[in-house]
Amino acid sequence: MAVVVITGSNSGFGREAALEFARNGDTVVATMRNTDKAESLREAARKEDLNISVLGLDVTDPESFAQFGAKVVAKFGSVDVLINNAGILRPGALEDLDEAKLRLVMETNFFGPMLLTRAVLPQMRKQGSGHIIMVSSLSGIAGLPGDVAYTASKFALEGATEALRHEVDRWGIHLSLIQAGMYSTQIFPSRDDEVLPDDYPADSPYRILVETKLRGIYESLQGAFDPADVARLMVRIAASDGSQLRWPADAVAETVLKKVFAQDDAGRDAFLRDVSETQWWSNGQDAPTGRESV
Ligand SMILES: NC(=O)c1ccc[n+]([C@@H]2O[C@H](COP(=O)([O-])OP(=O)(O)OC[C@H]3O[C@@H](n4cnc5c(N)ncnc54)[C@H](OP(=O)(O)O)[C@@H]3O)[C@@H](O)[C@H]2O)c1
Repeated sequence: MAVVVITGSNSGFGREAALEFARNGDTVVATMRNTDKAESLREAARKEDLNISVLGLDVTDPESFAQFGAKVVAKFGSVDVLINNAGILRPGALEDLDEAKLRLVMETNFFGPMLLTRAVLPQMRKQGSGHIIMVSSLSGIAGLPGDVAYTASKFALEGATEALRHEVDRWGIHLSLIQAGMYSTQIFPSRDDEVLPDDYPADSPYRILVETKLRGIYESLQGAFDPADVARLMVRIAASDGSQLRWPADAVAETVLKKVFAQDDAGRDAFLRDVSETQWWSNGQDAPTGRESV
């Protein structure tokens, strides 16, 4: 059975993936930046009598990656599947995001997966096999207003994955991308929190756009999909022959993927404004009723 390394395993998709791969009989190395947060995963694993190893790994600390890779190989013998799952969201218009926030999102969502992948590739080449799964997003194929940093990080991840796939296929190493719709996880602030973070510029001309967009997300979260579905998809992808690059996780992702790749720029813009309900912003109109500022 495979040795599966997962980043950001203390919550959301990562936690579900650790449990699902363990149920599948794989050796799971569940990593997280703060192992004090492992209790919920450990408790769930205990209930099902699953064996999961927890290791500390901060994806913004690339200096630790070589040592981490060597540790995994020494302890478990190989790295067969790497799931680059850890990620953060920092909603905001470009003019409202300071450089530190922009860079943190890129460090976490793009440089982390790239450099961790680079650290395990020598081992996978030696094995002559491996599967690297990147948790992307619909924001990795479609740009919408109010989400510049996250979108940039996921587009970068998509492009690099598509290119890398052709660099390493000769060694039997596969790369796959997951596009997911909306799932109820901790990546979104809880409904009880302020819609916008405290430090969001009070006088920003984009404030109403970002606030309206976040309110829309909270509303959609009620009908959000189950993160366990994405974990089950990850197990299927790991068992696949690697010929498929993009894996939509749900019906919404499937529709967006098809529409985005099938349309010209004008059709794509119209479709994206429609699904994100931001046509009013581009038209210079007021926010739709019921979604105004508090
Ligand atoms: N939920 C959705 O609707 C959705 C849709 C499309 C794509 N995604 C993607 O799915 C992935 C997982 O997110 P999620 O929705 O499951 O949210 P989540 O519950 O917030 O999980 C994100 C995980 O990433 C970890 N993380 C953040 N920064 C890290 C760092 N520097 N080093 C190591 N771990 C770090 C978090 O750890 P801490 O608890 O320590 O912060 C957390 O465990 C992300 O890449 C996200 O972009 C989510």
